[in-house]
Amino acid sequence: MTKNTIMPNHHLTEARSRAITLKIIRAYDNWVIRTYSYIRFLIMNMRILEEIEQYLPTSGQILDVGCGFGLFSFFFALSADKRNMLGVDINTRRIATACGVRAKFGLDERICFESSDVGDYRFDEPVDAIVVLDLLHHVPEKAAQRLVARFAEILPAGGLLLVKDITARPWLKMAFTWLLDKLMDFRGPLRYYHKDEMITLLAAQGFEVRVHRMIDILPYPHVLYVCRKLDD
Ligand SMILES: C[S@@+](CC[C@H](N)C(=O)[O-])C[C@H]1O[C@@H](n2cnc3c(N)ncnc32)[C@H](O)[C@@H]1O
Repeated sequence: MTKNTIMPNHHLTEARSRAITLKIIRAYDNWVIRTYSYIRFLIMNMRILEEIEQYLPTSGQILDVGCGFGLFSFFFALSADKRNMLGVDINTRRIATACGVRAKFGLDERICFESSDVGDYRFDEPVDAIVVLDLLHHVPEKAAQRLVARFAEILPAGGLLLVKDITARPWLKMAFTWLLDKLMDFRGPLRYYHKDEMITLLAAQGFEVRVHRMIDILPYPHVLYVCRKLDD
């Protein structure tokens, strides 16, 4: 479905995004994580981050599913000062690192990190929007279906779901992404969805889906799925 009901709100400049990302990278003490953060922000460059960020509400409670070390939770919190972020990740070590950096920013009031499978996490407060960045292609297909069903449970009708993922075409770009994903984690599962498959997966759980193709100078077939939960 491609109804044009989800409109972006532009408010970030490239200089501001760059300043925010540098601040985030420098906040990680461990050089391995700092190098990883640098590479991650190179892949998710300023333009891509701005393209994602423009859809997020500038206030309210945003859930970052599979937040890892918290890079993008920090980015979204630092780019709008009325935004509260909740980062949930199953990896306890990554969440501990994210909490350490949060203390440096003095953002304890506006960012919460929880170590949990998002399928099990019980939310105390309503969630206004969910971001899921490069997670779904890292889990088996059944797990991806369960996750999308969970997102539909968490969000109220009209709630926003932003899924940034990799599409399966052109295949040379997908092969490039596969190579880098394998370098990062050789044994981890990988399942790339063609954009039409991803639309079907999201629509099956009651989301209206709009595809936002993201052009990159690096050979990644990035796609942003801008989804709105439909009324039951
Ligand atoms: C490839 S990393 C992406 C991290 C971050 N979103 C980014 O873009 O840099 C995927 C993350 O999802 C987490 N994850 C996978 N399944 C999860 C689940 N069911 N609940 C919460 N986190 C999960 C993993 O631990 C990992 O940190």
